[in-house]
Amino acid sequence: MDRSDVNRRSFVKACSAVATLAAASATRLVRPAFALADAPKIKLVDKAGKPIKAGELEVNANYIFPYPYVSTPCLLLRLDAPTPRNVMRTNAEKAPYTWPGGVGKDSAVVSYSAICAHLLTYDSRHASFMTYHRGRSDLSGHERAITCCAHGSTYDAVNGAAVLSGPAEFPLAAVQLACDDGSDELTAVGFVGTVLFERFFEAFRADLNADFGRGAYRELLRDRTVVKPIAEYSDAVSAC
Ligand code: FES
Repeated sequence: MDRSDVNRRSFVKACSAVATLAAASATRLVRPAFALADAPKIKLVDKAGKPIKAGELEVNANYIFPYPYVSTPCLLLRLDAPTPRNVMRTNAEKAPYTWPGGVGKDSAVVSYSAICAHLLTYDSRHASFMTYHRGRSDLSGHERAITCCAHGSTYDAVNGAAVLSGPAEFPLAAVQLACDDGSDELTAVGFVGTVLFERFFEAFRADLNADFGRGAYRELLRDRTVVKPIAEYSDAVSAC
């Protein structure tokens, strides 16, 4: 089976799951399932266990790490543009919240949940459909956007993952990062916005059980999480 077969099979599988979820999600309330106060503080490390430093991330590259659960992926990006401070955004329930902005030099390092706010398409070890692109997207026409290839939702990576276009109605949940002034090392300390973990677990329980072991997908990370370039994290990475 060649790479295109893997990609196609993964995409069909994901679309099938999304279609099933579509009918159910119309009537289901979005529940903020993860209180910020409960978020574990987790050090970002590479696969050798070495701490990730903000200034050593490749600019405009896609990195993935799980947080706060072993099964919930997040995108990590070092942008080529500074981010604003304390931007007001609106969550799924139309309530305002503040996105604090990026960290590191120029506040250019940001992180967002890689679970789409539309119908929960996500970046898995099999395939990634949520990716960041610096250049202008053929699909949406936007630059510096995170695009979900399932239905074309695009999110503004520079501005708290605000929705730029497509069917999503609220921003991706944003990971709050802390960057040590001296060492430049990164720690995930929580989320702002709407986290969708319970819906995600419900929608993809069978896939998650298969990938992580029965029920193990709910395990919270402790101490550290491994950051990988997206091409190492997923067998196939879609661009759209
Ligand atoms: S799941 Fe529909 S745009 Fe992402």
